[in-house]
Amino acid sequence: MRLDRFICKRTRHSYKHSRLLVANGHVCVDGKTECNPVYEVGRFTTVAVEGVILQQRTPHYLMLHKPVGYLSATEDRQHRTVLDLVTPDLRPHLHIGGRLDRSSSGLIILTNDGLWSRRLTEPREKMPKTYRVQTLKPIGADTARRFVEGIYLAYENLTTSPAELEHIDTCEARLTIYEGRYHQVKRMFAAVGNQVTALHRERMGDIRLDRALAPGQSRPLSETEIASVWQKGL
Ligand code: URA
Repeated sequence: MRLDRFICKRTRHSYKHSRLLVANGHVCVDGKTECNPVYEVGRFTTVAVEGVILQQRTPHYLMLHKPVGYLSATEDRQHRTVLDLVTPDLRPHLHIGGRLDRSSSGLIILTNDGLWSRRLTEPREKMPKTYRVQTLKPIGADTARRFVEGIYLAYENLTTSPAELEHIDTCEARLTIYEGRYHQVKRMFAAVGNQVTALHRERMGDIRLDRALAPGQSRPLSETEIASVWQKGL
């Protein structure tokens, strides 16, 4: 939203007075005087009028190595959640970008940037997600073909986008999917008569789980990792 409208909406000043406040140098944007009334205010732009802060939000983007046993939720009475693994001062600000089942491990993204995380997780964005999968039974020779053709998910009444399966061992593979529906990987293997016994997410888009992170550890994303989400997908 442009700066003059932003001030008008967030204060009791009229639109005309908001423009004047900007033009007369009474408005600071990210710590500097801004005299352009059409300056575009972003979700994380700090805006102050005559020293009073109207908006101040710091963006947070974290990758977390989720251990098995933690719930992908912000709070739960019964189970430990992934938010229990980050510093308490950050917890109220963060949401989860792409859940994992309690029995799954690997890459989880925590952020307060909803627009950015939707890009990463919404099925229509087709962001690739790669999982290392262990199965109960040997992975059949036709599983890769079935996954390329797509698996029909009755509840959603849709067929999954072509997914890529790379065999690692008899009961182990790497699978890249492009949606991220509820229990998608487990349901895909169930559809071909198999069962997932362990699931670990390695990658979302171009963000790969940092090998230096032990289960339970997290780190801020780099500028390159954050920017990659706007470049990848579709
Ligand atoms: N698919 C699943 O079945 N479980 C997960 O945790 C993630 C993807």
